[in-house]
Amino acid sequence: MTQTVHVPLGDRAYDVVIGQGLLAGAAELIAPLLHRPRVAIVTDETVAAAHLPALQAALAEGGIASTALRLPPGEATKAWPQFSRTVEWLLEHKVERRDIVIALGGGVIGDLVGFAAAVLRRGVRFVQIPTSLLAQVDSSVGGKTGINAPQGKNLIGSFHQPSLVLADIDVLDTLTPRDFLAGYGEVVKYGLLGDAEFFAWLENNGPQLAAGKADLRAYAVRRSVEMKAEIVVRDETEQGDRALLNLGHTFCHALEAATGYSDRLLHGEGVAIGCALAFELSSRLGLCSQEEPSRVRAHLKAMGMKTDLADIPGNLPDAAGLLDLMGQDKKVIDGTLRFILAHGIGAAFVTSDVPRDKVLAVLAEGLAAR
Ligand code: GLY
Repeated sequence: MTQTVHVPLGDRAYDVVIGQGLLAGAAELIAPLLHRPRVAIVTDETVAAAHLPALQAALAEGGIASTALRLPPGEATKAWPQFSRTVEWLLEHKVERRDIVIALGGGVIGDLVGFAAAVLRRGVRFVQIPTSLLAQVDSSVGGKTGINAPQGKNLIGSFHQPSLVLADIDVLDTLTPRDFLAGYGEVVKYGLLGDAEFFAWLENNGPQLAAGKADLRAYAVRRSVEMKAEIVVRDETEQGDRALLNLGHTFCHALEAATGYSDRLLHGEGVAIGCALAFELSSRLGLCSQEEPSRVRAHLKAMGMKTDLADIPGNLPDAAGLLDLMGQDKKVIDGTLRFILAHGIGAAFVTSDVPRDKVLAVLAEGLAAR
């Protein structure tokens, strides 16, 4: 069964369609957006091998011609060289302003292609077909697009909303367990930040969902997208509330920088550890009881996920070094670090009022357990 979450952003409104068999049904879903029956698809080599033939065949069957660019897989693609290659390829293929570009892939492809669409001829429309759990529940929705700079992640980009998102639950079957669980870190984040009932549902259903139950996966994606859509509609360009979506991310970004954005720590793994640290810090600050961080960590552990600093292989900087890396976060305003803390599960809020020594203590304790 297919479910639709509408993102009501006025003239930039769009649907996120969630369900099984959406690649096979792509022509019917995309056709209403087209002025002429052709699309340009940008993907990566790994996703292309798994899903591009099925997508192109489905489009052809629906009378839509397509051409595809396959970029190298991996985070290094999300930078100027592959970005300019993509923009020039789209121009060579005479993609016009009223055409549609399809981003078929995970977060790297979605962010890069969205940004290419944002600047091509001053803006063409694009469709996200996210193929990772992380992209389905987070990066494909909400219009953040961009690439990395040598100075940091996602520092070059723009807000450019997609015209449609197709989250095909079936494609999640091709993910490795590690990639799936990394995406699950973002799913847990939604329960923790604003929906205690959803977190309890995840505690009960997470293991079966990870084992492959499609209806549970579809519900988790839908609830995550609903929550993201609500927040994005309130604060599209992150002037306030949208920062809630960054629960766990201030810690995560420091840990990703400390591990060189390498295989040592995937983004979603860093988010999960970051959420556990944010709850620990909240409890130390007397904002919630000690049971709350324990419950968060218990669920992550039950799912077989990285939960603590001790779960990150290799060396890490000391607590002061990690705090320094947190200072590079995009949430820094006028030199003050903003944290997403919580009064309890499902009750997160944004604050700048966090004593440095308390953050250092939480980090030092986590590092001492390594
Ligand atoms: N990934 C956080 C956001 O879209 O705001």
